[in-house]
Amino acid sequence: MDSSNFENTKAIETKNLTKIYHGGIRAVDDVTFLVQPGEIFGLLGPNGAGKTTMIKMIVTLARPTTGNLRVFGIDASKSPETVRNMLGYVPQSISVDTDLTGYENLLIFSKLSYVDKKQRNGRIKDALEYMGLTDRAKDLVKHYSGGMMRRLEIAQALVNRPRILLLDEPSIGLDPASKMHVWESIKQLKEKFGTTILITTHDMSEADELCDRIAIMSDGKIAALGSPIELKKSVGGDVVTVNLTVAYPSITFPKEIGTIMHSNEKSIQILAENGEIAIPLVSNFFRDQKIAIDSISINKPNLDDVFMKYAKRRLHEEISPHATSARRDFVRHTR
Ligand SMILES: Nc1ncnc2c1ncn2[C@@H]1O[C@H](COP(=O)(O)OP(=O)(O)OP(=O)(O)O)[C@@H](O)[C@H]1O
Ligand SMILES: [Mg+2]
Repeated sequence: MDSSNFENTKAIETKNLTKIYHGGIRAVDDVTFLVQPGEIFGLLGPNGAGKTTMIKMIVTLARPTTGNLRVFGIDASKSPETVRNMLGYVPQSISVDTDLTGYENLLIFSKLSYVDKKQRNGRIKDALEYMGLTDRAKDLVKHYSGGMMRRLEIAQALVNRPRILLLDEPSIGLDPASKMHVWESIKQLKEKFGTTILITTHDMSEADELCDRIAIMSDGKIAALGSPIELKKSVGGDVVTVNLTVAYPSITFPKEIGTIMHSNEKSIQILAENGEIAIPLVSNFFRDQKIAIDSISINKPNLDDVFMKYAKRRLHEEISPHATSARRDFVRHTR
């Protein structure tokens, strides 16, 4: 493709990017998006949506089958090394050696990423301090908590002062306090250094909390893209959740009150223009049907409702527990 079609003022630019693995799995399917310099951009989607594959193509560890990919205007397939030098990457799986100390891990990494010998010590010290690990730098990583290990991995990715930091599931398997700590460090990186950050996650609250813009991925495609506020607004109206006392097989609901977004046996979610007006109508409807209501509530749409609208499925029902437990199990073994 003609290079004039790309602007090098964009941090990441993909055009019709597709990755088909051996066996024909279309992990990323014709994806086009932009990441602006200095923004935190999230790829949100369930297991198998193609998030890791997308990140691997950006860090030049996987080759696109078709389409184009540029990082600050540089073509990733033509100049992978130049692209890699601009990036810091924290993979989904463990990327530090647990039999070494925190400091040793960073030292090895700084050598591997050709950080100038004179600058090495300073860079390592800064990265450890930045991620709140100075006191534990001389301890073996196997004695770290899960949150500390994740912070060390981020510190490692910061040693070569990347323009773009890519984090694949930054807080997977972490307890709430460690998660907050990681989130805070990510926000600070953007605010203090203007680092562009791309994260993948299947955690709605993480995407909501951290990201300036989110691309919602489903089956290798981008189902919706925008700021969390824009995306939630685009669902429109209020979500009325009705919990029933007994399971009810199927309900045909009057369209004037709202439309059913999702239902399982005992719980029904209705999208209504105005929740407060809808609630009495919803109660009357179920009373007429002789179905007893246990509770009823109104909420503004969340990112799961956005996923439901665009991917026609529930995000939280798509997440297989084994993916989230993989890191956790490892962390448990190392304690
Ligand atoms: N190396 C590979 N060879 C063949 N298929 C693969 C490979 N890596 C991933 N896939 C498949 O590609 C699809 C997308 O996988 P990917 O790991 O990119 O998804 P993901 O969104 O990161 O999922 P998760 O939330 O589980 O990390 C899945 O169907 C997966 O099985
Ligand atoms: Mg993944």
